[in-house]
Amino acid sequence: MVRVGCSLATVDRNASAPATSTTTMIRTAILGMARAFAEAASRCIALLVIELAKRLDRPVVLVGLMGVGKSTVGRRLARRLGLPFVDSDSAIEDAAGLSAAEVFERYGEHDFRDGERRLVARLVEGEVRVIATGGGAYVDPLTRALLNERAITIWLDAPVDVLAERTARRDTRPLLRTPDPKGTLERLSQERRPAYEAAHIHIKSGNGAHRDVVEAIVQALEDHLAKRPS
Ligand code: S3P
Repeated sequence: MVRVGCSLATVDRNASAPATSTTTMIRTAILGMARAFAEAASRCIALLVIELAKRLDRPVVLVGLMGVGKSTVGRRLARRLGLPFVDSDSAIEDAAGLSAAEVFERYGEHDFRDGERRLVARLVEGEVRVIATGGGAYVDPLTRALLNERAITIWLDAPVDVLAERTARRDTRPLLRTPDPKGTLERLSQERRPAYEAAHIHIKSGNGAHRDVVEAIVQALEDHLAKRPS
């Protein structure tokens, strides 16, 4: 019995050794092919996105309420398209040497809006790039008309609950320094909706990954350029 057992074990070992190595070889080959396919596919997608960026003859401007992710999504979108990125709030802050909240406090909202209107008008005349605007910029009728004429405007839209949760993380927004920031966001959402609806493209984003929002924008830009008369 012992002998038989031993010999069976020997036979098994001998039989399974080539089988295992064949399986391993096949698995390695399949994994190699899958990896090569994935790399080729992502190179193709990257080329398509660069092609898309080449067809853009004007800036892409993100508009929408505070907390919707205009800056984060804008930066990622710019990287994806291989274009420069600028954030209008940061540009105002650089020019003023003060934070947006400090400009509001020292000079008031009226002066902030004046500066914002002039700055956005300058940015849109510059190179083709991705521009994230402050939430109120596009609400100004002159800025809205200018952006719709000279840029591709994208309204990033998310439920107020999501915006309230995100904006609560940092106390940097002067308009939300109220006893009921979520109520303020609800009011602004209703007041501004008709303005935001004038954007060329409407992207609904929830609590999902910014990566998915970027992909939705890339697809929407493709569709927009395909429809636009050349
Ligand atoms: C504002 C939005 C802010 C900033 C300012 C006013 C607004 O920018 O411009 O606090 O009126 O909605 P974000 O939308 O980037 O937060």
